[in-house]
Amino acid sequence: MQDGQGRQIGYLRLSVTEQCNYRCGYCMPAGAPCANSPRPSVERLEELAQAAVDCGVEKIRITGGEPLIRDDILDVCSTIAEINGVKELCLTTNGHYLSELAEPLRQAGVSRVNISIDSLRPERFAQLTGGGDFHRVWAGILEAERVFGNVKLDVVLMGGINDDEILDFVDLTRYHPWAVRFIELMPMGACANWDKGCFLSGDAVLACCPQLVEGSPQGVARRFRLPDAVGAVGLIAPLSHTFCHACNRIRITADGYLKGCLHAKEELDLTDLHGFALQQAITQGILQKPASHHLTQRGSDTPRRMHRIGG
Ligand code: GTP
Ligand code: 5AD
Ligand code: SF4
Repeated sequence: MQDGQGRQIGYLRLSVTEQCNYRCGYCMPAGAPCANSPRPSVERLEELAQAAVDCGVEKIRITGGEPLIRDDILDVCSTIAEINGVKELCLTTNGHYLSELAEPLRQAGVSRVNISIDSLRPERFAQLTGGGDFHRVWAGILEAERVFGNVKLDVVLMGGINDDEILDFVDLTRYHPWAVRFIELMPMGACANWDKGCFLSGDAVLACCPQLVEGSPQGVARRFRLPDAVGAVGLIAPLSHTFCHACNRIRITADGYLKGCLHAKEELDLTDLHGFALQQAITQGILQKPASHHLTQRGSDTPRRMHRIGG
């Protein structure tokens, strides 16, 4: 269905847990175990997804925290994939469990996965993720490519932290068919007060790599290619090149709130709603979806950290 601005809303990002086995410094507070964090049941996730589909959603992305830490994640995926009207089921992951789970996820109806990876250097990767295992994630990426045919990699650009790896990431696209997408670090939650030098514009990638040739945009990403490369480079630049006019998504958090915009403070409480009332609330959320976000260098309007939204 259309929102109040005439945008066609067909994409739901459904968070299935706030918890994560990694601790990326910009996302989660170090060491915080997230005690008592919500974990919607498979039945509730099915009910939410069905109500969203009844409002015109056709694409659902499972997000977290880290969705693959749920021991019933295959059940979650197959239940949602079987809903009549779900045309595409995707998942965003840190990749830690992908080498084991890529094939079962495909069998459960997932059509593709996006993987977050902020460094190609094992030691730095471990530092950035609070102990993450680069070699496991790399094996997971290769397995996901084998199983799904292709993958997208999401790299959060951080000045003075991983910007010396921009060329290494772009180089991957020469011989892998992957889309490597650089995301501007968004000043919210754990990283809101980081040194301003960490917040690089996506244009830093173009400055580093003037050979990149621009193609047509895909979703929230501007797309580029190196001449003769088999893969693509994307820029997701919510700060320097707002893409709100083309936004097609809503979000439901693991604690059961609908967010019309990643950065909006306003949320709709869906927790006690079922059946027609739930569908009505989602319809209302879509109609009230903000025209644009208010993300600036000073910060985001939402007090939530990213792991409590799902990206
Ligand atoms: P595709 O379905 O492959 O197009 O994936 P996607 O880009 O929708 O999903 P993914 O989870 O890979 O998102 C990549 C990153 O882009 C997320 O981690 C967010 O940080 C950022 N992002 C996604 N949607 C939005 C949005 O609506 N607003 C802003 N500001 N950032 C977003
Ligand atoms: N700014 C940009 N991207 C972020 N992510 C988490 N927090 C931020 C932030 N503050 C990204 C992760 C992952 C996705 C789900 O969200 O790296 O790619
Ligand atoms: Fe976990 Fe993703 Fe947050 Fe990193 S960005 S701590 S992998 S939820």
